[in-house]
Amino acid sequence: MKRDDAMEMFELDTWSRAHLARIEDALSLHVGPHAPAGLGEAMRYAVLDGGKRLRPLLVLAASEAADGLDAAAVRAACAVELIHAYSLVHDDLPCMDNDVLRRGKPTVHVKFGEAPALLAGDALQALAFELLAPDDGSLPDAVQARLCRLLARAAGAAGMAGGQAIDLASVGRALTEAELRQMHRLKTGALLQASVMMGAACGAPDARAQAGLQSFGAAIGLAFQVVDDILDVTADSATLGKTAGKDAAADKPTYVSLMGLHAARAHADDLLREALDALAATGLPDTRALAALARMVVERDR
Ligand code: IPE
Ligand code: IPE
Ligand code: MG
Ligand code: MG
Ligand code: MG
Repeated sequence: MKRDDAMEMFELDTWSRAHLARIEDALSLHVGPHAPAGLGEAMRYAVLDGGKRLRPLLVLAASEAADGLDAAAVRAACAVELIHAYSLVHDDLPCMDNDVLRRGKPTVHVKFGEAPALLAGDALQALAFELLAPDDGSLPDAVQARLCRLLARAAGAAGMAGGQAIDLASVGRALTEAELRQMHRLKTGALLQASVMMGAACGAPDARAQAGLQSFGAAIGLAFQVVDDILDVTADSATLGKTAGKDAAADKPTYVSLMGLHAARAHADDLLREALDALAATGLPDTRALAALARMVVERDR
């Protein structure tokens, strides 16, 4: 390992520990147990005690890079994770991927039933937007509107939900690389890119920085799902905390089925380089946390 890499990894570790603690505290505070008829319990089960929290870390790193408002960044970080958690609950339902294991635990519908899982997802989505629009004067109206707009676009038909629709419509089909890229950019990339841009929106980066962050987010967003496809083949269920080997079993088109493991891995490495180049082009003074998170996206083992 080169000395630079060792220093960066060490820094990410230290940086992440403090930020993860803030994210966990805020999520636990905002996702209370008091929703009626056990709904709160299902929501907390879906969100707390698990997950890498990559999206909230990206929000906080981008906000720091853009000298953003901290109160806004923590809310944005939680909101993105709530949308992500909701997307996982629905992704695992029998009508979608029919998965029984998530974050090392039985999936929400296995534990609570299908209808409660559906509703927990619905309620988490709504809560995400409520968090972005506090009425205590802590977030300027313009920031609230910007954050809601970015998150809504990334979660909806032009983002995650649209990508999931393509995913379901693509079972058993051999997609072209362009089609697969589009599916991955929507179903996974959009929310990761939004994490970066929401962090940036907590500050006021100039046009050059915004453009660089946009390209950075697009590259790591796609890289993330390429690596997810790879890990589905190469990792085991215990490490992943979700069932390995599901994509081939369900006949889903993936980067591995399209180009093979070796080329998929090389593609992820290319996307990391693209992301780091885009970051360098932002002109922002300190993007080390974002760079280290990008490396983690591509080099992770779970
Ligand atoms: C898994 O996301 C679902 C995809 C979008 C591929 P993560 O790998 O970030 O899941 P957690 O949050 O760590 O559980
Ligand atoms: C899911 O993609 C993307 C989402 C929007 C949740 P996958 O179906 O590949 O995610 P995993 O592998 O189940 O986590
Ligand atoms: Mg899926
Ligand atoms: Mg799935
Ligand atoms: Mg997957």
